[in-house]
Amino acid sequence: MIENFYKDQVIWITGASSGIGEALALELAAKGATLVLSARREDELQRVNQLCGGKATIVKMDLGDEKSIREAASTVFNLHPQIDFLFNNGGISQRSLCLETDISVDRRIMEVNFFGNILLSKLVGARMLSAKKGHIVVTSSLLGKWGFYLRSGYAASKHALHGYYESLRMEVEKDGIYVTLVLPGFTNTEISKHALSSDGKPTNEMDHNQAGGLSPKQVAQSILEGVAKRKFEIAIGGREMKGLLVKRLFPALFEKLVRKQSAK
Ligand SMILES: NC(=O)c1ccc[n+]([C@@H]2O[C@H](COP(=O)([O-])OP(=O)(O)OC[C@H]3O[C@@H](n4cnc5c(N)ncnc54)[C@H](OP(=O)(O)O)[C@@H]3O)[C@@H](O)[C@H]2O)c1
Repeated sequence: MIENFYKDQVIWITGASSGIGEALALELAAKGATLVLSARREDELQRVNQLCGGKATIVKMDLGDEKSIREAASTVFNLHPQIDFLFNNGGISQRSLCLETDISVDRRIMEVNFFGNILLSKLVGARMLSAKKGHIVVTSSLLGKWGFYLRSGYAASKHALHGYYESLRMEVEKDGIYVTLVLPGFTNTEISKHALSSDGKPTNEMDHNQAGGLSPKQVAQSILEGVAKRKFEIAIGGREMKGLLVKRLFPALFEKLVRKQSAK
């Protein structure tokens, strides 16, 4: 089923310049999808497009800038009035203690991971509503389910996505629009290098948790299988995934175990 599921579908991927978004683009290009790739780094988007066969549309967009999002959406809609799938995947992480982090950094993370994300869904979702079809896929995190060291603003932004998209799903499922939340565990991307420190500068450090995580390709393949099954949530990762069940069934034990995990 999955082989033809994405063929000729118009699919907009944000955060497509690296990591999980890049891997989604490669997998979907191989399945014959019509792709729109967005992020801030145009040179990296061009590199990904070449790997995808060079047929994707590249639309530069900064999720932290409302004007940029609105302009990108209008460019995309001129070319593709109807979007079948939005992979709302772009995001930024954090490596800094709550009380040392400047509030501007918390705001920046919320702007990119939450407000930019939901603005794009509003714009694309309105089109889906008119067509009475579409699927919005949002990359959250296991940290959309619990907090963790050095990730206060990041975990908050991902928790916010769950509240928002669970509500959206209830409102639009009758109109043929699906909403999937994706919860990756540790994935071997450069997210920790791009993560913001207490003053808002990127850390430029590769965490060993990420380095030992699943490959972006594995994560992308699991996402695409889950989306084809119209799952509400797709959780993907290594042993950190056990946290989901332990937190639900044994919350006190979870609180003990999670404190023993390495922050990086
Ligand atoms: N790697 C993990 O362990 C992990 C675990 C759980 C969840 N996630 C989530 O997975 C998603 C993808 O992250 P990744 O791991 O693939 O890391 P990544 O390689 O750093 O990719 C992040 C993507 O988001 C884009 N992005 C960042 N800030 C942006 C902005 N202001 N405007 C537009 N695009 C922006 C980046 O592109 P530009 O820099 O070119 O703009 C890049 O394409 C994120 O939402 C992340 O929170 C990752």
